[in-house]
Amino acid sequence: MIRFEDVNDQAAIFALNTVAFESDGEAKLVDQLRVQADPVISLVAESDDRITGHILFSPVTTDPPTSLSIMGLAPMAVSPDLQRTGIGSRLVETGLEQCRKAGVDAVVVLGHPSFYPKFGFVSAPNLGFHSEYDVPEDAFLMLEIKPGILKDAAGLVKYHPAFADV
Ligand SMILES: CC(C)(COP(=O)(O)OP(=O)(O)OC[C@H]1O[C@@H](n2cnc3c(N)ncnc32)[C@H](O)[C@@H]1OP(=O)(O)O)[C@@H](O)C(=O)NCCC(=O)NCCS
Repeated sequence: MIRFEDVNDQAAIFALNTVAFESDGEAKLVDQLRVQADPVISLVAESDDRITGHILFSPVTTDPPTSLSIMGLAPMAVSPDLQRTGIGSRLVETGLEQCRKAGVDAVVVLGHPSFYPKFGFVSAPNLGFHSEYDVPEDAFLMLEIKPGILKDAAGLVKYHPAFADV
């Protein structure tokens, strides 16, 4: 089952991110974003009363600024014993659906170039958007939730300042 996180999930989400990333940097980032970013879309995968996956979306800004609502997908984690069983994909699909319902225009992600295209993500640089981080161009992907919404937009994408601490 995929559902919104609730306050009772916070410790399990922290533990899940710590084990999936093998350090607590992303777990602390989630705790910071929950307090500092607005809006945040935070979903969990739950199975047999256990949190098995987590995904978070938070707003990004662009330089030059845009009036569009663009969210960054990060971080995402699945329990190591259940990775490659489809939980991550279900979290992405449900998360994108919730973004759409929330009126989000586009989503960016820094991630594996073979994983995200199946959800409709394409090269962000090809759409005119670049990452503030020094990452391979093909690892920066973007999805227009509203098709064509980015045609007159471009810029440097900046994540919430809390990402700088990871
Ligand atoms: C990335 C992650 C969330 C994917 O979740 P998942 O439930 O395993 O994903 P799914 O089962 O839906 O999809 C599997 C696909 O994910 C991709 N994938 C998963 N792990 C991967 C890895 N280590 N390297 C590259 N691609 C990977 C592959 O495309 C894979 O497809 P395949 O099995 O056909 O090769 C999960 O592996 C994870 O928690 N990793 C550790 C934390 C992390 O790196 N998070 C992402 C950065 S924010």
